[in-house]
Amino acid sequence: MEAILLVGGQGTRLRPLTLSTPKPLLPMAGVPLLEHQLTRAREAGVRRLVFATSYRASMFTEAFGDGSRLGLEIVYCTEEEPLGTAGAIRNAAQALTGGPADPVLVLNGDILSSHDLHAQLAAHRKADAAVTLHLTLVDDARRYGAVPTAPDGRVLAFVEKSPNPPTNQVNAGCYIFRRSVIDEIPEGRVVSAEYEVFPGLLAAGEPIYGYVEAAYWLDVGTPAAFVKGASDLVTGAMTSPVVSGAEHGVLCLDGAFIAASAQVGGGTTVGEGARVGEKARVESSVLFDGAVVESGARVVRSVIGKNARICAGAVLEDVVIGDGATIGPGNELRSGLRVWPGVELPPMAVRFSHDA
Ligand code: GTP
Repeated sequence: MEAILLVGGQGTRLRPLTLSTPKPLLPMAGVPLLEHQLTRAREAGVRRLVFATSYRASMFTEAFGDGSRLGLEIVYCTEEEPLGTAGAIRNAAQALTGGPADPVLVLNGDILSSHDLHAQLAAHRKADAAVTLHLTLVDDARRYGAVPTAPDGRVLAFVEKSPNPPTNQVNAGCYIFRRSVIDEIPEGRVVSAEYEVFPGLLAAGEPIYGYVEAAYWLDVGTPAAFVKGASDLVTGAMTSPVVSGAEHGVLCLDGAFIAASAQVGGGTTVGEGARVGEKARVESSVLFDGAVVESGARVVRSVIGKNARICAGAVLEDVVIGDGATIGPGNELRSGLRVWPGVELPPMAVRFSHDA
């Protein structure tokens, strides 16, 4: 089976991390986020992938080349201006080699999922569907595309980000298209799969099916989700064939150093050459390569960018620190705060505390 990977988005919700690196290439448990999905697709029998790139396209070629490192064949189709999710699928179709009736797997590039791709494909074949969407179950569907289905799996409606979703089954960003359906998407303009193509196919009476499976699933679109995905991969709550060497809730990459009296755990990645000083505490966090957490500092559920420095005694909870930034001693940053790359915060400059 061939696949199209949607990887051209700007990842605005993950700024500043995505200012220099596209979201699918952000390091997650030691490899680019996308690599977890690529290896799962390979295990499900995918051999050839078309990357639909746009934002910082050349970085994908640098990271994955022709795909041979992963035992895959990867080719690239770049949009000069982003064409939206379905426009990107249409544009990438020029590089597919299959026939009109062949199934094409389409994956959003920012999803971590352990659902059974074989079973989704089997459901697609059994229904002779035009498109089969993986649907997952969430507690609160208001932020997602809700997709109610009939008992036989046939999709009844697409209800995007509604305050009153009709179901908690939501579009999980992994589709199997019949190739000929992709060829019908309008060419050369911005087209949304969620708002235009799927509702249009439904209105035209095409057989659209949902494959419901509530396996581990995470849309890694926000800093909180990024931290959760990374820590789940390190603790093993989400398994990936490309994560190795995690022990006691910590993944220590080459050349990383953790002082003997430091407490590091809860699913933390300590990147290449990163350092954690004496009596520092780092929990459920991601330290990118070369990041430094000095003695006595506390970092919880946070992302520390490349070569950023968290000085002695600083406290960080639920924050994102851009590459090369310095957080001076004694600062307390919490609750979704983001520090841009290269910023130098002087000592004791910020105390953001609920009890202040
Ligand atoms: P935000 O800006 O934070 O919403 O992130 P995003 O740009 O990644 O958008 P979103 O999460 O909605 O995108 C879902 C998937 O589709 C991601 O893997 C994106 O890379 C990809 N994507 C979104 N828009 C485009 C596009 O216009 N072209 C291509 N090739 N991919 C896209």
